[in-house]
Amino acid sequence: MPKIAVLPGDGIGQEIIPEAVKVLQAVLGKNNLKFEYQEYLIGGAAIDQTGKALPLETLNACQEADAVLLGAIGGPKWDVLPAPERPELGALLPLRKELNLYANIRPVKMVPSLLSASTLKEETVKNVDLVVLRELTGGLYFGEKGRHDHPPAAYDVLVYTEIEIRRIVELGFQTAQERRKKLCSVDKANVLESSRFWREIANDVARHYPEVELTHMYVDNAAMQMVRYPAQFDVIVTENMFGDILTDLASMLGGSIGMLASASMNGKKGLYEPAHGSAPDIAGQNKANPLATILSAAMMLRYTFELHAEADQIEKAVTKVLDAGYRTADLAKPHEKIVGTREMGDAVIAALA
Ligand code: IPM
Ligand code: MG
Repeated sequence: MPKIAVLPGDGIGQEIIPEAVKVLQAVLGKNNLKFEYQEYLIGGAAIDQTGKALPLETLNACQEADAVLLGAIGGPKWDVLPAPERPELGALLPLRKELNLYANIRPVKMVPSLLSASTLKEETVKNVDLVVLRELTGGLYFGEKGRHDHPPAAYDVLVYTEIEIRRIVELGFQTAQERRKKLCSVDKANVLESSRFWREIANDVARHYPEVELTHMYVDNAAMQMVRYPAQFDVIVTENMFGDILTDLASMLGGSIGMLASASMNGKKGLYEPAHGSAPDIAGQNKANPLATILSAAMMLRYTFELHAEADQIEKAVTKVLDAGYRTADLAKPHEKIVGTREMGDAVIAALA
């Protein structure tokens, strides 16, 4: 039986994960499929119970599972700990590294019924359909970091190996080939040596994908273009830090960060999580939007298990509930009726039928 390691984590993670599991069980049940779901501790919840943000039991379970479904980690309670022990540096980053999840996939597609939910003008976001491929196990996040005393200073080293660049750029070309055949590689080659190296490799990989049009864009310009004319983008490939920033920006092109699903891949193995955080300000109040997590579960069915029909069913059900006017607080306009986390999950299940 396919095994899924379920890691609710902290804050709204505890509320959105049950909704995604509920939807998975419903869609798989309808299609006579059975998965095994096992819950493990991660993040602040794990610190409170075991003293460690990423207990060995959790790491082992993630390594053994076919896929990992993660909620969110972190919160003010654990921000007082030394940085390496906190949920981000102590759990999420080591998990990505240990599982070698180098490819982070974040798709943004405007659902027509959410057009007015975006803070951007409708004509700007109307035809948005893009995917950002973010390199996830290299760059500034994983370079040497530290402090000097005399004079007081701090540093984070940005290194990329050729192999690290080549494999994510290749995935970019493959993804573009199956879509509108446009790949935009985002860098800062006018300033950074690592970006000039990235660009050379991207140009080299391009020789093997003659049907795909490769363009290069500086990251500052890419941020501006994303709000100016986002429909120009098909596939974007970029390094870790730029990808972190640009995907939060890109999420608003799809209405709300509460809609942004994410898959972190190494071949078929994947960790699936919403791109938003643990939102401690609304945690425990049945307010969070579970759709990014539900859509991440759909990505899991598609990428790890190749259950494309079932993934389609979930995505269609999500579109249907949005078309029917269901809105969590992050999506609602002042006069619109707001539903809670659980009601949104129930509505998606009802729409599967
Ligand atoms: C993300 C998040 C993480 C990141 C944080 C929680 C460490 O912002 O997945 O985009 O920066 O990668
Ligand atoms: Mg981020």
